[in-house]
Amino acid sequence: MSLVKMTDLLAKADGTYAVGSFNVSDMEMAMGAIKAAEDMHAPMIIQIAEGRLRYSPLDLLGPIMVAAAKKCKMPVAVHLDHGGTMETIKLALDLGFTSVMFDGSKYPLEENIARTKEVIALARKYNAAVEAEIGRVGGAEGDYKAVDIAVTSVEEAKRFAEETGVDALAVAIGTAHGNYKSKPQLRIDRLKEIAAVVKCPLVLHGGTGLTEEDFKNCLHNGIRKINIATASYDSSAREIKAIHDAKPEANYFDFSNAIVEGTYKNIKKHMQIFGLENKA
Ligand code: 13P
Repeated sequence: MSLVKMTDLLAKADGTYAVGSFNVSDMEMAMGAIKAAEDMHAPMIIQIAEGRLRYSPLDLLGPIMVAAAKKCKMPVAVHLDHGGTMETIKLALDLGFTSVMFDGSKYPLEENIARTKEVIALARKYNAAVEAEIGRVGGAEGDYKAVDIAVTSVEEAKRFAEETGVDALAVAIGTAHGNYKSKPQLRIDRLKEIAAVVKCPLVLHGGTGLTEEDFKNCLHNGIRKINIATASYDSSAREIKAIHDAKPEANYFDFSNAIVEGTYKNIKKHMQIFGLENKA
């Protein structure tokens, strides 16, 4: 079925399920993701964050991600996660990504609105969609300094969505990127208030470590896209360590296959929780 637009996938998510958006960092992770989508007969978004490009340069990984989406028998959107610079955003669009995130959460509201509008104007030339962030998700996606959570204000989210016409909006409702040090306090009350006044699909970042109940609570109350990164990296690292411990003669290909398997297992598990089976 191949490469599709993120907005087409999110438009179909009706509150009984949410679309998983899974970070990948190499061909093996992309292969694990395809395998999970095909096994589950599920739509999927694959993404890479600007903060991880030190390990996986976009001009090398991007074409692999686009090729993976085209190869997959299920609909797959290819997305730039946490884009921070116009240069990276333009490169992703040139490479054929069907959506980009502009993360202007560190800027004052007016500046976030103005910069997001510039990204939208550029993305429209490529018929691509744009995700933005309002409030601030905690932690850090990639090599940046971890930040504290700033819960999204309902008024700001409404104003931001109306003034920018953004296609998807990431909200901060108590989640953080990376593994949680203590149980996150989800603000489902705030999510409901935002969902009541913001028309575009809402996005949950910091999915790793949430419980099945947390995910269901979020997708039943307005979240349409859920990001998972750390859990796939951890699952792949666990597979590699298990093979290393169990098989002293393990070679390079055993380890690269462990990345495929580790990613596959984690994505499949989350697709089941998000209600994605047979939704392609
Ligand atoms: P986790 O690493 O916590 O799963 O967060 C993923 C994410 O939100 C990517 O933007």
